[in-house]
Amino acid sequence: MKNIILDCDIGVDDASALIMLLKNQQKVRLSLVSTVAGNSKIENVCNNTIFILRNFATRWVSVAVGASKPLYGERKLDASDVHGEGGLGGLKVEKQSDAKFTTEVAEEKIYKILSSSKRKITLVAIGPLTNIALLIKKHPEIVKKIAKIIIMGGSISGIGNITPFAEYNFAWDVDAAKSVVESGLKIYLSPIENANNMPVCDDEILASLKDAEHAEILKKIFLNLQDGSVPFGFALHDSCAAAFLLKPNLFKTLKCDIKINDDKKDKRYGQCFCEIHKKGKNLVFVPKNYQKVKNFILKTTFGG
Ligand code: BDR
Ligand code: CA
Repeated sequence: MKNIILDCDIGVDDASALIMLLKNQQKVRLSLVSTVAGNSKIENVCNNTIFILRNFATRWVSVAVGASKPLYGERKLDASDVHGEGGLGGLKVEKQSDAKFTTEVAEEKIYKILSSSKRKITLVAIGPLTNIALLIKKHPEIVKKIAKIIIMGGSISGIGNITPFAEYNFAWDVDAAKSVVESGLKIYLSPIENANNMPVCDDEILASLKDAEHAEILKKIFLNLQDGSVPFGFALHDSCAAAFLLKPNLFKTLKCDIKINDDKKDKRYGQCFCEIHKKGKNLVFVPKNYQKVKNFILKTTFGG
């Protein structure tokens, strides 16, 4: 059984990734879901996380509240045009008033879990990397307890979705992204190209939803979405990170060095490149067969 911590900014595609992991609780032990602002403000992200857990978890998972803004400066980016006002598409999530969160902030709770665990733990980070950057900054020795970190962010080729050059998670907190990428952690990157090459359409979701227990909730979250960065359908970026964790054989992994542009004056600020070569220190993964990965995501998120 793999022990993992999920750091997320739920978010439609984060919801898919979390549901995929919750449906595999016999395979992966989720020790914590930590939240970070990103797709929506932190209050919405926390509320959405509790809502998804209440509806889809077979075993409760603790939730820690994380960063509400980037390492430096204020929150500038918001994705409500893509993920809906509250962050879960067309679903209006009521305030989860009796929701319980851990008392520590995200990076401290992650630190506590890692330092008390006998085995190394895998981190899956599918939002801005602020919590992880804070963890490493405050407790640099803890990297020894992290088996690897699977990150959704950046791109192989330098294309973006929030600017022509920058991908949303990395652009949201460029300093955090750079510090995590350069931390020496074993990074497995799911770049923007993965999901851009296999957007999902409403018809495919509806076909997969036939026997789903929570079909009405899933329809409200996932149907009728608009994602300006792909010509049709919706790119489920974070689901690719979950798919890699659950079925690594569906992907090929390439050694690379990840470069991030942190020059604030440059129009390419936030841009990420993966220089693929045999001596690369990090790893980027891409589907061996896009249709197979897409089918796995559709089945695991929406299947009954
Ligand atoms: C990433 O940004 C967010 O909007 C998505 O949830 C995903 O993590 C894609 O660029
Ligand atoms: Ca996300």
